[in-house]
Amino acid sequence: MKNFLTKQYIKDKKFKIRHNYLSDEFKDYPKIFKKIEKVIKFNDFTLGFEVDKFENNFKKLINAKNCIAVGSGTDAIYMSLKCLGLSRGDEVITTPYTFYSTVNAIVQADCRPVFADVQGDFNINPELIEKKITKKTKAILVVHWAGRICDMNRIKKIAKKYNLYIVEDACHAILAKKGKIFAGNFGDIGCFSLHPLKNLNVWGDGGMMVTKNKNIAKKLKLLRNHGLVNRNEIKIFGINSRLDTVQAVVANHLIKKVKNITKARRDNARKLDIGLKNIDSIKIPKRDTENYEVFHIYSIRAKKRDLLIKFLHSKGIDAKKYYPIPMHLQTPSKIMGNYKKGDFPYAEKLCNETISVPIHQFVKKNEINYIIKNIKDFYSKS
Ligand SMILES: Cc1ncc(COP(=O)(O)O)c(C=O)c1O
Repeated sequence: MKNFLTKQYIKDKKFKIRHNYLSDEFKDYPKIFKKIEKVIKFNDFTLGFEVDKFENNFKKLINAKNCIAVGSGTDAIYMSLKCLGLSRGDEVITTPYTFYSTVNAIVQADCRPVFADVQGDFNINPELIEKKITKKTKAILVVHWAGRICDMNRIKKIAKKYNLYIVEDACHAILAKKGKIFAGNFGDIGCFSLHPLKNLNVWGDGGMMVTKNKNIAKKLKLLRNHGLVNRNEIKIFGINSRLDTVQAVVANHLIKKVKNITKARRDNARKLDIGLKNIDSIKIPKRDTENYEVFHIYSIRAKKRDLLIKFLHSKGIDAKKYYPIPMHLQTPSKIMGNYKKGDFPYAEKLCNETISVPIHQFVKKNEINYIIKNIKDFYSKS
């Protein structure tokens, strides 16, 4: 099988308004190189001073009690389940409308994903969670899709009633908040991704786990570094999921900008919402002033979605589907759970209807207007 990402990078470059904005984001790379030079001179390549500093910066950013930096968001979810003692056959309730990683991590932790369908906010529907609980259920793994917080009040009540853990896949949701609570701080453990196209990113892969609980934090620290308590002794069996120092340097550089990045994404989203609201063929998810969305993705539902995407591509706009296949209809899930079309209708509807357009901090006002104009043109002609 070929590496499909190389092709993707070439394709990405052809668009005028792109999803991939990394060359803009890192125009100031000489500054980062200077910081990396210091690290090299100090022989600190992994889990060093820069990682400690990043964990502290992250703590302050989202008012977290404990932060543990790791190799990826996927590892963060996997280790969270392991840390909470979940083991073979335990069931974890989650959404079928998510990135593969949420479900992969459950399976890699030897547990069974159990899906509950989503609702109008694209997040798991709390009403459907309770029906999925069995004696084997140990945790609810919520995903704050696109950076919009799930209905955590109701989900927390359910978790309390049935004595279940809550793990948050907050990989889209850095700085998202409901009331005064930031994503990652609602459940037992919150998991973040620092993948290059996330709102707070590094130069490759990286992740973060946050928790209020000191003992959980201690165990997560052991888990990410082979279970080592010192150079020669392990206390538990762990894995290698350390955040590299180079990545921590990049993260510390960008964390200073993440509030502005979020603001720019929210501004772009507001302009798109206003510009698109009167188009009958477009459905914008309801915005809730209590739910501070961070728009990792700007996703709306559109009639004739596939034709619209083709049209926008012809106009140089990198419109995308996030994601066209729900998790229960991916091949390994179908084999594992015997799922079929129609099992989770809302997730399927979203996979068939949603379209996302670039919304990141480098999309300018005239480009947002150009996106709006072209969507309007498409529907007026068709
Ligand atoms: C919802 C969701 N969960 C988990 C992940 C996994 O993060 P990572 O790529 O850092 O492993 C992603 C990454 O895109 C994601 O979108």
